[in-house]
Amino acid sequence: MISTIKNLATQISPKVRNWRQHLHANPELSFQENETSAFVAKNLSEMGIPFQSGIAGTGVVGLIEGKNPGSRVLALRADMDALPILEENEVPYKSTKPGVMHACGHDAHTASLLGASWILNQIKDQFEGSIKLIFQPGEEKIPGGASLLIKEGVLQNPSPASIIGQHVMPGLAVGKVGFREGLYMASADEIYLTIHGKGGHGAIPNASIDVVAIMAQVITGLQQVVSRGANPTIPSVLSFGRVIANGVTNVLPNSVYLEGTFRTMDEAWREKAHEKIRQITEGICAAFGATADLEIRRGYPFLMNDINLTRKTKSSAIAYMGEENVVNLDIWMAAEDFAYYSQAMPGCFYRLGTRNEERGIVSGVHTPTFDIDEAALETGCGLMAWLALSELESGQ
Ligand code: NI
Repeated sequence: MISTIKNLATQISPKVRNWRQHLHANPELSFQENETSAFVAKNLSEMGIPFQSGIAGTGVVGLIEGKNPGSRVLALRADMDALPILEENEVPYKSTKPGVMHACGHDAHTASLLGASWILNQIKDQFEGSIKLIFQPGEEKIPGGASLLIKEGVLQNPSPASIIGQHVMPGLAVGKVGFREGLYMASADEIYLTIHGKGGHGAIPNASIDVVAIMAQVITGLQQVVSRGANPTIPSVLSFGRVIANGVTNVLPNSVYLEGTFRTMDEAWREKAHEKIRQITEGICAAFGATADLEIRRGYPFLMNDINLTRKTKSSAIAYMGEENVVNLDIWMAAEDFAYYSQAMPGCFYRLGTRNEERGIVSGVHTPTFDIDEAALETGCGLMAWLALSELESGQ
């Protein structure tokens, strides 16, 4: 069966490449994936695969029924949204929408899942069970398309026993894939903080409540949350990437504004850390006569790869790719809304190598020069189809 799938992957991969280039040239922001959704729907319908569209706005969910379709159901997932980034690559498939770019490879995920769908549909009389194809909106934006699709019942009728998703990895050479059993990605919460004090002349600080100096204390004080508050065995990170103190050389502003992120891999600690962030912030502000408006917006939960499913999936990948092309991944402190599926059922989220140093394809995700080596797409569709099939078979 591996050689059948490999042949089909070779056959469909030029199309997958075209699909990816079309999607790359026509990116759409989170929850606005209208053309992308129509494109997916059109291709599924040309393949003769039944689907439902308009789920959580732009979500599309297809279903391939093999023999005895109710015996076991597995889900495959791809995300479809792009990012608010101005593309700097000079390529024929460059984004035609200034300021919107597929800089996280979701174009490759969607095209690969379309390719996997085509492959699986060709051989549906050769396997038992059904495969649900989830093309989801809004991975990049809270509350996450995954959580909305789950609320709209994507995991019912029929109910998948497990789910597999893939994500490009610019740090991993094309031709390789990576797996990690257990904890893989972090929960991510957004921190929005305004500190209110009293502005005034920089020469008369005693007549002001200097929020710039207070903000510096708050940022320094909050370093203790991770360094002293976190159990050292639980990965945690707290970073501030935006600080606006809009005074000038001799004018102290009335308020300052900060944005940051808190990430970890333990729900109990996550709650406790939120409390500590609040206590430290409000305590320091109060000590100096300022007040704090603090909002901690909850993002995605941590992502746990089911150990049993991931072990099986990884060994199927070794059978398909060869042992030398399947690597073990480290923990990654980024967040992914695939975490919502993985908390609802056994999930496996693996990485697809897309790096090609010789061709200069090395930029990280979420950068204006991100690109992939498209040779990865043949693996992207073929391996995914094979993993789905192997999992259906192993479950019987
Ligand atoms: Ni992504």
